[in-house]
Amino acid sequence: MEIKKVGVLGCGLMGSGIAQTAATAGFETIVREVTGELCEKGFTGIEKSLARFAEKGTITADQQKEIRGRLTGTTSLEDLADCDIIIEAIIENLETKRDTYRQLDAICKPETIFASNTSSISITEMMTATSQERQRRFIGMHFFNPVPLMKLVEVIRTILTDEEIYEQAVEFGKRLGKVPVRAGDKSGFIVNRLLVPYMLDAVRALEEGVGSIVDIDNAMKLGCGYPMGPFTLGDFVGLDTTYYIAEIMFNEFREKRFAPPPLLKRMVLAGLYGRKSGRGFYDYTKDPKNPTPMNLV
Ligand code: 3HC
Repeated sequence: MEIKKVGVLGCGLMGSGIAQTAATAGFETIVREVTGELCEKGFTGIEKSLARFAEKGTITADQQKEIRGRLTGTTSLEDLADCDIIIEAIIENLETKRDTYRQLDAICKPETIFASNTSSISITEMMTATSQERQRRFIGMHFFNPVPLMKLVEVIRTILTDEEIYEQAVEFGKRLGKVPVRAGDKSGFIVNRLLVPYMLDAVRALEEGVGSIVDIDNAMKLGCGYPMGPFTLGDFVGLDTTYYIAEIMFNEFREKRFAPPPLLKRMVLAGLYGRKSGRGFYDYTKDPKNPTPMNLV
């Protein structure tokens, strides 16, 4: 079966980025959100991003229109029935995901491939909400923020994934303009397995007084050539998300390096989620382009 029509579940930061990427690659793409307002919000983000690419000359004005024309929004799961692949990027809650997959399994054609963009929830645990036949067609496709710019996609197989379906998903990743890497269904896959302990260690270094927020960020940025230091990246990804991923990985592996440090927990409890809430390791409320470090220790 050739993949022609792509369904995306969720039009948040990741879902909208994935939908934009699929439409840019030439796929007819339908995005489902729970409300019309959320759908509109996601599409506004897509339009802004496409406009940035058009301004830079990465795409022409005609291509901008064509890409937008390949995208539709819906609030109904039924509208995804004839999609060849569905990429799910909804809230990171196992029960909500399982419930959605259970419904979709009954709605979609038997050939539809199910792919989750989860960053850390077990693909196997979601897969078991579907029929045995679907379980062979169930994979992970983990994208990175901002999706239209980041070149990587991790393609995750479970112990039940059909070999042909898996290879088709890897090829699909390439057709999306990404570089696919193959990974097994272990929490965090490749990137978060390495990235999360690094980010948690940065928080521990801050707690222990090794350096300030700005100095630790500058050290990794200027000493190692990372595009962002660990605290800028944490604020960008979302500290609630980082904390949540760390908890899942700690529960999976029971290893200290995945345990969220007390400061991170307190920041999340206090609503300091990073850029999206206005404050995290930095305060973005006065000048988002030049945020000032918070006084946390
Ligand atoms: N759409 C279109 N263009 C965009 C864009 C978007 N969504 N976001 C940024 N751009 C453009 C900007 O307009 C800018 O264009 P210009 O060069 O013509 O001015 C260009 O991209 C660069 O942006 P900025 O000048 O704002 O900033 P940077 O040079 O720092 O680049 C970045 C931004 C690509 C985000 C870079 O900082 C970066 O690579 N950061 C690291 C991101 C990262 O590590 N992501 C992974 C997070 S982990 C994850 O997602 C997994 C999850 O499970 C947690």
